[in-house]
Amino acid sequence: MKMPVAFLLLLALCNAIKVHGEESEGQCDYKLTLDPRPHSVSILEFGAVGDGKTLNTIAFQNAIFYLKSFADKGGAQLYVPPGKWLTGSFNLTSHLTLFLEKGAVILGSQDPSHWDIVDPLPSYGRGIELPGKRYRSLINGYMLNDVAITGDNGTIDGQGSVWWDWFSSQSLNYSRPHLVELISSEDIVVSNLTFLNAPAYSIHPVYCSNVHIQNLSVYAPPKSPYTVGIVPDSSKNVCIEDCSIAMGHDSIALKSGWDEYGISYGRQTTDVHIRRVHLQSSSGSSIAFGSEMSGGISNVQVEKVHLQDSLVGIEFRTTKGRGGYFKDIIISDVELDNIVTAFVACGDCGSHPDDDFDPNALPVVDKITLKNIIGTSISVAGNFTGIQESPFTNICLSHVTLSINSASSTSWVCSYVSGFSESVSPEPCPDLESSYSNSSSTCFSLLKSYGRAAAAF
Ligand SMILES: *[C@@H]1O[C@H](CO)[C@@H](O)[C@H](O)[C@H]1NC(C)=O
Ligand SMILES: *[C@@H]1O[C@H](CO)[C@@H](O)[C@H](O)[C@H]1NC(C)=O
Ligand SMILES: *[C@@H]1O[C@H](CO)[C@@H](O)[C@H](O)[C@H]1NC(C)=O
Ligand SMILES: *[C@@H]1O[C@H](CO)[C@@H](O)[C@H](O)[C@H]1NC(C)=O
Ligand SMILES: *[C@@H]1O[C@H](CO)[C@@H](O)[C@H](O)[C@H]1NC(C)=O
Ligand SMILES: *[C@@H]1O[C@H](CO)[C@@H](O)[C@H](O)[C@H]1NC(C)=O
Ligand SMILES: *[C@@H]1O[C@H](CO)[C@@H](O)[C@H](O)[C@H]1NC(C)=O
Repeated sequence: MKMPVAFLLLLALCNAIKVHGEESEGQCDYKLTLDPRPHSVSILEFGAVGDGKTLNTIAFQNAIFYLKSFADKGGAQLYVPPGKWLTGSFNLTSHLTLFLEKGAVILGSQDPSHWDIVDPLPSYGRGIELPGKRYRSLINGYMLNDVAITGDNGTIDGQGSVWWDWFSSQSLNYSRPHLVELISSEDIVVSNLTFLNAPAYSIHPVYCSNVHIQNLSVYAPPKSPYTVGIVPDSSKNVCIEDCSIAMGHDSIALKSGWDEYGISYGRQTTDVHIRRVHLQSSSGSSIAFGSEMSGGISNVQVEKVHLQDSLVGIEFRTTKGRGGYFKDIIISDVELDNIVTAFVACGDCGSHPDDDFDPNALPVVDKITLKNIIGTSISVAGNFTGIQESPFTNICLSHVTLSINSASSTSWVCSYVSGFSESVSPEPCPDLESSYSNSSSTCFSLLKSYGRAAAAF
């Protein structure tokens, strides 16, 4: 059958990822479909050996280079069959599906010479852990569109233990790499995979839009230092759903740049929807906002989440010098179990990239709603420590029931914070009990903007 050229072109344009929904309430509310790519090659065709010992960096690079030529022909799939595929860092290309078959494991090399060294991100000005450059991530994308990293529960394993040891013994020369980093890219899907043992972050979309992360297991051991799961950073239109994440530090951390670098880069993280996730964070927060947030973070909806065995459940971290803001954030339908502090908002958390930060750049924290929350085995209900020169405002708590381990008078700690609460147990601090008529309209309008029933208020 012959098809007209115009139709083929249309097919190519529509191929693979349809990320725009008509009537979306949030960034997850459209149907995600991954159409098969018209071309597929196996990594075996590029001489790769899946014995867990042979280094396959060149095979991955050559395969991707070859598949670049299919970008205008509907894109292509790189198929990774069962086996252990050791590699150093490599780049993806546009209109590509990287598919990891069941039993396929991409292993990150433990030899640092297999990881390139690259410039810091402009919104950070330096490596996060050390001044200067940083290691390139294992799997990278730069200015791409229409990319899927998916499979039948294949695994990407960073074998991070060497990096954790170097970090802990302070013998790193550059900041640690991540497993997947996509920079300035759009229409990205990461789905149906397991991510293990990231050197630092597992998945880092930065300056991206239309990112859909679905049905992943992400894991690093409880003692792995500062390992983080998913980090949407200066990105917009991000959906994270149906994921199970257990990390040494934070499970999901939303960021947007660091002090003067983040302020001048000026790229916010916005329009983020997170739902149906199971999170565990031994030494950090199940869901963290910041501390790097200088480009601002807004319009975030988190719902139907289960947080367990963590130091903190939900945490907003910022500090003087950050600038930026957290605003219009709604978190609802949360179950917490065995968490030291359920909620933290901290105005003195986070370090500075260098001495050139502006101490007068004060962050703004406004319109944060926490509703329909049940917690068991909690030690401290909430610790809201605002900034004297820029108090946190419109913090709304509704229908929050936390059972505290040992009844103590310090269930809630509040300073430089104001807001509204309704049906909250244990009784919150007076700062969060301003009169119904005042703050309820703010909480109410927040909910209304998402088309929700506002009956709770
Ligand atoms: C990978 O992409 C970067 C740009 O982000 C480029 O500098 C580098 O040369 C690429 N590496 C390869 C092997 O293509
Ligand atoms: C999640 O991924 C697994 C394989 O990793 C697959 O069997 C399952 O069907 C997926 N679930 C959804 C809802 O896509
Ligand atoms: C995916 O594989 C991991 C181990 O590699 C396993 O723990 C997990 O249960 C699997 N998930 C599914 C949906 O099969
Ligand atoms: C850091 O550099 C020193 C000096 O070149 C080198 O001996 C050491 O192996 C490097 N550390 C790592 C983790 O690569
Ligand atoms: C995930 O896997 C399931 C089961 O194979 C499949 O139906 C679904 O389309 C996949 N989803 C994505 C987004 O890859
Ligand atoms: C509350 O947070 C402040 C500032 O981060 C900290 O100093 C204090 O120890 C915390 N209090 C509790 C009870 O966790
Ligand atoms: C709350 O209402 C009181 C009295 O109506 C008013 O003085 C106060 O400024 C209001 N506060 C806010 C935050 O709107």
